Amino acid sequence: MILVTTAGKVGSETVRLLRERDVPVRVLVRDPAKAAALAEAGAEIAKGDLDVPAAIDDAMTGVSAVVLVSPAVPAQELNVVASAARAGTGHVVKATSKASADSPIARRRWQVEIEAGLAASGIPHTLLRSNAYMQNVLALARAIAKTSSFGSAAGKGRSGLVDARDVAAVAAEIAASPAAHAGQTYWLTGPGLISNYDVAAVLSKLLGRTITYRELTFEQNQDAMIRAGVPEQIAEMNAQAFSLTAGGDAEWVTQDVQSLLGRPARSLEQFHRRLRRRVLLGRAPDTQSVGRRAPRTAAATTPT
Ligand SMILES: NC(=O)c1ccc[n+]([C@@H]2O[C@H](COP(=O)([O-])OP(=O)(O)OC[C@H]3O[C@@H](n4cnc5c(N)ncnc54)[C@H](OP(=O)(O)O)[C@@H]3O)[C@@H](O)[C@H]2O)c1
Repeated sequence: MILVTTAGKVGSETVRLLRERDVPVRVLVRDPAKAAALAEAGAEIAKGDLDVPAAIDDAMTGVSAVVLVSPAVPAQELNVVASAARAGTGHVVKATSKASADSPIARRRWQVEIEAGLAASGIPHTLLRSNAYMQNVLALARAIAKTSSFGSAAGKGRSGLVDARDVAAVAAEIAASPAAHAGQTYWLTGPGLISNYDVAAVLSKLLGRTITYRELTFEQNQDAMIRAGVPEQIAEMNAQAFSLTAGGDAEWVTQDVQSLLGRPARSLEQFHRRLRRRVLLGRAPDTQSVGRRAPRTAAATTPT
């Protein structure tokens, strides 16, 4: 049995892919009603909150590997690590980012704390250090539909944007056969470097009208997210990440997705083709690849 902690962008697709392979999978969620499609796909749904160790212990029963993916709050993810250690779980695949102890972004310092706890636990594990997800644009879908434009503090900076479905495919692959991946760190990216001007060009082509990208200052970007309902601390961390992107922080591309999956990483065009209808209709940013979740708001976005 594989346990996937949470059914967000990466978690839900990981569950779906494991079920496609007929692998027994359990997913820990706060609200089982949002995970109906995962249940239909044959996943066991465990109701629980990452702040509640007893619920995590229940979900950990009989688990051989854990895919640890959540908003990266140290106390919560370290609860999962402690539970996995108590249960003698064989492997943890941890979704993480460009973590660094001296990063100005709190979330990246939290990732360092979680990774250190995982290392100290002695559980064999694999780190998936991903570049920014293509799915982050979903938080802007409504604004794009309404104004035919979007803004960011990322300036002209380029990122090795990765489709979160590819991160999930790697997580599923490793969780299903972890032995060769213990102690490894993979740097997951898409196939090339992409700026927001490139994103605007792809969207313009697919939607058949001009979509404009506006460069924002850190403060403008942070204020826009807060006005859209993003909690202040998350808006600050996101705007910091975008500002770093402007300076080249996300300009890295690897072949890790291709070498792990034996096929190329999905391109921005492939990703957006799938999104076209949602953006056209100004649909809420439903980040699940499967499932019938309630619409999510920009507040739910968890960039690097
Ligand atoms: N976004 C990026 O560009 C990016 C890039 C690289 C790495 N990452 C890393 O990826 C991870 C986030 O993955 P993701 O984007 O797939 O997540 P996500 O889509 O933001 O989903 C997070 C999930 O966590 C659940 N959750 C939140 N608090 C919970 C709690 N207390 N107990 C149980 N469940 C809880 C949410 O469920 P509810 O529906 O109940 O709210 C949601 O399903 C982070 O480690 C982040 O640093 C992100």
